[in-house]
Amino acid sequence: MRMYDLIHAKKMGGALNSDQVRFWIRGVVDGSIPPEQSAALLMAVCWRGMDTEETLALTLAMRDSGDRLDLSAIPGVKVDKHSTGGVGDKTTLIIGPVVAACGVPCAMFSGRGLGHTGGTVDKYTAIPGLRVELDPDAFRESLRATGFANSAQTGDICPADRRLYALRDVTATVESIPLITASIMSKKLAGGADALVLDVKCGQGAFMRTLEEAQALARSMVDVGRAHGMKIKALLTRMEEPLGWAIGNALEVMESVEILKGMHGDGLLAQMSFRLAAEMLVLGGVAQDLESAMGQVARAVQSGEAMERFRAWTRHNGGEVRSLDDFSGLPQAGQCVEIRAPRRGWMAALDSRALGILAMELGAGRRNQGDLLDLGVGLRVHRKVGDPVEAGEPLFTVFAKAGTQVAPEPFLATVGWSESPVAPEPWLLGVVE
Ligand code: URA
Repeated sequence: MRMYDLIHAKKMGGALNSDQVRFWIRGVVDGSIPPEQSAALLMAVCWRGMDTEETLALTLAMRDSGDRLDLSAIPGVKVDKHSTGGVGDKTTLIIGPVVAACGVPCAMFSGRGLGHTGGTVDKYTAIPGLRVELDPDAFRESLRATGFANSAQTGDICPADRRLYALRDVTATVESIPLITASIMSKKLAGGADALVLDVKCGQGAFMRTLEEAQALARSMVDVGRAHGMKIKALLTRMEEPLGWAIGNALEVMESVEILKGMHGDGLLAQMSFRLAAEMLVLGGVAQDLESAMGQVARAVQSGEAMERFRAWTRHNGGEVRSLDDFSGLPQAGQCVEIRAPRRGWMAALDSRALGILAMELGAGRRNQGDLLDLGVGLRVHRKVGDPVEAGEPLFTVFAKAGTQVAPEPFLATVGWSESPVAPEPWLLGVVE
């Protein structure tokens, strides 16, 4: 078999069979296929696409390129959640303890952030002492002891994805539905969970800008998961304004803890997190339907059991539990700068992508892989779309390094105004199952 023939076939719009796909992925991992040939095939896939069978074959070949985690010794349906990434998205921090408190083992792998979106692992590193990279035994032990495990990838899971993603990143080939599907689902299948809830984000703050693209990605991932025996469901959710009030690592831990303690229950972040958790309870088999699952979630939060799980998990994994109740123990910024509204009106838009980039520039995110983060910096959003605003009211608090000049203009430019009341759009755009 020659890689040249695979590239040529895909360039002409042909389909690759599973032997050809395995040949490619084996060569990516053992180095026998040079990056320029993989880059050419990736570009051909971007233009020509892959049918369902090819996407399945690619997912399996990538899953089998490295270790697989065996969770079969842990009783129950092990449930995972994946979000395609947004600004201020800290739902994972909330969902793990809630789902565990409701009796479903929750096994999640998370990533680090790049560009305008943050990563769950970075948020966790704001908790002093917390271990965020667990080996397979430590991952299973956390799941057994506390009901949930959440770590950066353990062992050598999907090395083919790491190599291909690095190539995609520099060859403008990230945005391809079959490539995204195989990248995400190979890791999920290797992670060992039995069930998966997907949060596919749609909008200007997300990978998928239109509802049609988000639907197509969700359909593709659900089909691949189901074909491999997973229980799986996708929610399509709007990502226009930031999720919740915080952007920045320690600030997002604080907001997640507040929600686990029962605050902000009517806000979008709590609603979305609780709905995703409830979907996981249904797939996990402890709730008959969504309504009773939502009831279980509400009781877990109101009784304090969900927050207690978060403390137990933090303690188990070496983190300082005190910092969850006394936020002065979390990393702090050197200065806080308030940015006030220049006019009255209604907030009609809030550009999450631009705010994510501003937070990254403050040091909360990475422009390039390997950049060091400042865990205390970020921003607090005081008004959301639909809120009335008076001139002079605080719109943002910026948490910056001491000595950084914080100009208000870039923050104010993220706000769209209306002279009349604005109804916020619904956050749930659809369900794919
Ligand atoms: N996240 C991934 O893990 N892979 C992709 O291809 C895109 C987003």
